[in-house]
Amino acid sequence: MKRALITGITGQDGSYLTEFLLGKGYEVHGVLRRSSSTNIDRLRHVYTSPQNTAGRLKLHYGDLNDSSSLDKILDQSRPDEVYNLAAQSHVRVSFEQPIYTVDVDALGTLRLLEAVRRQNPTIRFYQASSSEMYGKVRETPQDENTPFAPRSPYGCAKAYSYWQVVNYRESYGLFACNGILFNHESPRRGENFVTRKITRAATRIKLGLQDKLFLGNLDAKRDWGFAGDYVEAMWRMLQQPEAEDFVVATGECYSVKDFLDATFERLDLDWKSHVEIDPWYLRPAEVDLLLGNAAKAREKLGWEPRTGFAELVGMMVDHDLELAREEKAVQDFRAEGADEGPS
Ligand code: NAP
Ligand code: GDD
Repeated sequence: MKRALITGITGQDGSYLTEFLLGKGYEVHGVLRRSSSTNIDRLRHVYTSPQNTAGRLKLHYGDLNDSSSLDKILDQSRPDEVYNLAAQSHVRVSFEQPIYTVDVDALGTLRLLEAVRRQNPTIRFYQASSSEMYGKVRETPQDENTPFAPRSPYGCAKAYSYWQVVNYRESYGLFACNGILFNHESPRRGENFVTRKITRAATRIKLGLQDKLFLGNLDAKRDWGFAGDYVEAMWRMLQQPEAEDFVVATGECYSVKDFLDATFERLDLDWKSHVEIDPWYLRPAEVDLLLGNAAKAREKLGWEPRTGFAELVGMMVDHDLELAREEKAVQDFRAEGADEGPS
């Protein structure tokens, strides 16, 4: 049985990758950060799912900022493959916490690479690199040869990690790959990323639970795919005869306004009546346009996105409408109780 170690297992991608690898018969180990409130919500269903036969999912407390915990977890889990998905992954937050972001997203990768190199250099290593590294883009679409021009502390940290991965491959012969993933979303997306923020708010507006949605730059354009499709590309990279870097993207580009149109239209609403611009959500420097060319992944990995833009929006809206209905039912129940008074 193959063993994988995933950092960032509690995040959006970590949860989809866990399901995918369990489905492939792997034993899956994950790094869990200690938190005062629960952070395993995206994984809870996996524990009881039919995929998790014989308890093949195992979590270990650790942190990318703590080398000793990484050494200990590598020793305990003895993985064949390591997927480094852990990061402070929010671009705007990285302007507020640049040093912390660099510590986790740049030095954290180096700590893990060093631990792998010293403990077992035959481990195959996947690094969650990002299209955010293209920043102020030098060409469109972007592929593996497009130069980086990062525009945020997050983008700079990811570019540092990208180059360390290349260096560990070239210097020490590590099987280490960068997946340069363009934006990917899902019903499990964090609620402060723009797509999920929109689908959460629009569905709550539909049910009268809120009226306004405050956003920043509506003209930014992104190449949005479905996270469930993208984790398969990560795995495929580590099954290749040689370690290489790959762009993973849909090759289609939409603006934040397009995402608003698609979401609100699905709910028979007009976003212009509900959306207001709040400068708080603008960034000191913006990445205006990202559009990926995943031809190399198509040719060498046999990977293609399966989910189109409209389907992605539909999946997120339907999921969040259900959440809003549950919230409304609780609210109505409480209101009824209040009318009745104490019995
Ligand atoms: P996410 O939902 O924000 O998940 C981030 C994960 O990292 C969480 O499990 C988080 O743990 C963990 N983490 C944060 N700091 C950590 C630390 N110091 N030590 C250990 N774990 C830590 O992100 P995602 O969307 O799944 O993205 C996965 C990775 O791909 C990230 O590296 C991201 O930067 C990169 N990426 C994402 C996209 C995208 O569009 N989603 C595109 C390109 C690249 P908690 O749950 O405890 O917070
Ligand atoms: N988050 C957010 N909130 N973004 C907003 C808002 C808002 O209220 N209003 C407009 N936007 C714009 C942002 O300025 C940005 O141009 C775009 O929406 C997308 O923002 P995010 O969803 O936060 O994603 P991101 O592109 O900055 O970063 C994501 O994708 C990267 C890959 O390109 C993250 O997942 C990163 O971790 C990832 O590396």
